[in-house]
Amino acid sequence: MMRLTWTCLLTLVLVTAACEAPGEEPVPAEEAVPALKEVFADAFLVGAALNPDQFYGRDTLGVALITKHFNTITPENVMKWEQIHPEPDRYDFEAADRFVAFGEERDLFIVGHTLVWHNQTPDWVFEDDRGEPLTREALLERMRDHIQTVVGRYRGRVDGWDVVNEALNEDGTLRPTRWLEIIGEDYLAHAFRFAHEADPQAELYYNDYSLTNPAKREGAVRLVQGLLDAGVPVTGIGMQGHYALTYPTLEELETSITTFAGLGVDVMITELDVAVLPRPSEYWGADVTRREELRAELDPYREAFPDSMQQALADRYADFFEVFLRQQEALTRVTFWGVTDGDSWLNNWPIRGRTSYPLLFDRAYRPKPAFFAVVATARE
Ligand code: XIL
Repeated sequence: MMRLTWTCLLTLVLVTAACEAPGEEPVPAEEAVPALKEVFADAFLVGAALNPDQFYGRDTLGVALITKHFNTITPENVMKWEQIHPEPDRYDFEAADRFVAFGEERDLFIVGHTLVWHNQTPDWVFEDDRGEPLTREALLERMRDHIQTVVGRYRGRVDGWDVVNEALNEDGTLRPTRWLEIIGEDYLAHAFRFAHEADPQAELYYNDYSLTNPAKREGAVRLVQGLLDAGVPVTGIGMQGHYALTYPTLEELETSITTFAGLGVDVMITELDVAVLPRPSEYWGADVTRREELRAELDPYREAFPDSMQQALADRYADFFEVFLRQQEALTRVTFWGVTDGDSWLNNWPIRGRTSYPLLFDRAYRPKPAFFAVVATARE
């Protein structure tokens, strides 16, 4: 990996000349690097998921990239139930408060992620003090308290919420979570209604992965149409966008965007990254509990990412953004799941400790060929 020297960094920021380390790609002059949010200003918001090093300001180079390129942010983990509400009678808002303040300081569109999910949610949520499963009424009451406390705290400040995350199986039926088992199918309707009561102005989303797969797409259509028919305030569908070099097809992607837009709701790409490392199986979903064993052949780019792969990634990103631009009437937002390759959850999922390259900025905070390929799609 290239080490940025101070001289080189200064050059990057202050002057127009390119700066070259021995045997490395030239660092593009700062003025040759347009801001993504400006490039796509007429099409959709462009965002990133943030971690605490960024919104507490410890990762200063990351902060500079976020401030320059993005006009919307999502917290990668700090608003998940286990972090914001770790014990029955204790909420911990410290990190979430800092995240929201970071967005307000820069006037960004702030997304809350996520209120009702089956992962990163403590077991106690579903149990009474004796460890017995809660009744439907008691769990609904707990859900209402959580949603109204969290959404209410940021009322008028967080612009949109992922209200329910990943409620569907791959075949489009409802996933058998404890939310479903204890409350029943109307748990989603209740979640959206509680969120709407807590902040009537906030946008409210259903968010899931693999929504480009036909059966899951149809399941999402049935789910969201059913909610809308019942007068439930769903305003958008978030397509997580955990994609890969070979998944999904561009046709399936475009069909999902147009199909969801046809329901009359906003559509957004919420967690975009493009996996470049081999998978031990042909699983292209994003189930965070899935774990695979590390083997050397599954981590082939520890030392460097070959040019041919850089190019393949750039081409793939360009293909995706061509679809996004074509569908800009339907899409309100494209959010990357991380800023630089070093931040990405794909370094640790589905296998811990790999070196992945799924985003537009490299580990030295430099824009990659994929960045310029994405920019070029808006200029064609
Ligand atoms: C991931 C985070 O990136 C990781 O840091 C964490 O360990 C697990 O969750 N779908 C989602 C996100 O909705 O919340 C997940 O984020 C990735 C898959």
